[in-house]
Amino acid sequence: MRAVVRASSLHGSLHVPGDKSASHRALMLSALASGPSTIEGLSPGRDVASTSAIMVQLGAERVDDSDQVTVVGPEQGLTRSGSELNCGNSGTTMRLLVGVVSGVPGSHTLVGDASLSKRPMDRVAVPLNLMGAEVHGQGALITAPLQVEGSHALRGIDYVVPVASAQVKSAVLFAALGATGPTSVREDVLTRTTTEDMFRLAGLSVHSLEVQGGATVTVNPGRPHATTWRIPGDPSQAAFFAVLGAIHDCAVLEVLHVDSSPHRIGFVTVLQRMGATLTLESRDGGVSLLSQSSQLVAAEINSREIPSVDEVPILAVAAAAATGVSVFRDMGELRVKESDRFLGSMALVKSLGCRVWEEGDDFFVEGLGSASSFSPFSLDAGLDHRMVMAGAVAGCAGCGCTIGGVDTVSSSYPNFFDDLASLS
Ligand code: S3P
Repeated sequence: MRAVVRASSLHGSLHVPGDKSASHRALMLSALASGPSTIEGLSPGRDVASTSAIMVQLGAERVDDSDQVTVVGPEQGLTRSGSELNCGNSGTTMRLLVGVVSGVPGSHTLVGDASLSKRPMDRVAVPLNLMGAEVHGQGALITAPLQVEGSHALRGIDYVVPVASAQVKSAVLFAALGATGPTSVREDVLTRTTTEDMFRLAGLSVHSLEVQGGATVTVNPGRPHATTWRIPGDPSQAAFFAVLGAIHDCAVLEVLHVDSSPHRIGFVTVLQRMGATLTLESRDGGVSLLSQSSQLVAAEINSREIPSVDEVPILAVAAAAATGVSVFRDMGELRVKESDRFLGSMALVKSLGCRVWEEGDDFFVEGLGSASSFSPFSLDAGLDHRMVMAGAVAGCAGCGCTIGGVDTVSSSYPNFFDDLASLS
């Protein structure tokens, strides 16, 4: 259990870790390339460390310098490892890796921790089986442990992704690199474009077409070039400080060098609509996020605005400090994250003293009008890093809290509590 006390005021600037999504992909693309690539700003979290260790198991080499990591992809390409590939707590590692090892001949065993072993992998198994890989797991949801039979004879497919998921899109696109012929992935809801953007930077042939709110991405087979990756700060981590600054009654905060790609900053638009004094500003060759104390009002938030729904738990905390009833619509995907964040977000804001209720995949939060009206609370975050950070922000801006399971914060943000303390 860790106690978080209310901060009397919050001032200062900080760097959040390098973007987790880009970090996983930089490691995978570097390992798939031939020769040395360098990565600056790699996320220090355990999730990314899992991906890194697995790339080494598959034949890549990693050398760490003080401010960058060099990854050397084997000239002959990745090869099967005789031991289990342990993805830990990381859904991105497991789902993208299924795509990567589908193109590596032989049998691969993918395992994860208790949280990851409950998460659905059928969403990646289905398209990869269509491509000619064989992905086997447990039960109807094809949960881990997974057995993947990789092959050099994958077929390109044209696939409509049935859930809004950047991980599913990316798993198919990684497998597409080793397929015969092009592969297209169609999505109804635009998800983050990290994979496509980084494929282009690695010299791969990618064509994206946005259509009626969605997109079709087509990738031709090819091998990524070794290159230099510069990874900006993770906007999903910056979101915790954006909300903290907005709901605390005496705060001026700045998060430096944040990735401001349009598909990642939906939470900024939502908070601005709620009345937050929150701006993105160009500083020192990067983009900073500035947040200060604000009186928030309720909003209606649809999952299309923040398709991976990573920022919903912290937006629920913002709704708890607002005046009026906020509506979170179409949030079913929250149920299959590192924990059931649909129930977890509702439980968190209820413990702050809010009235909350659900209707199907929507939930409603009646705000208390200010964070100073939050009740002190205690929270068991299970194995969910984002629930730890959402709880800590609520406690720090409100009236304190105790949190169980805080160690899991190291999945994505090992220095979170030090950074939080540095502001008060
Ligand atoms: C991620 C995709 C998201 C998100 C996760 C990172 C990625 O999941 O929740 O934290 O790097 O592709 P979806 O597959 O639901 O989009």
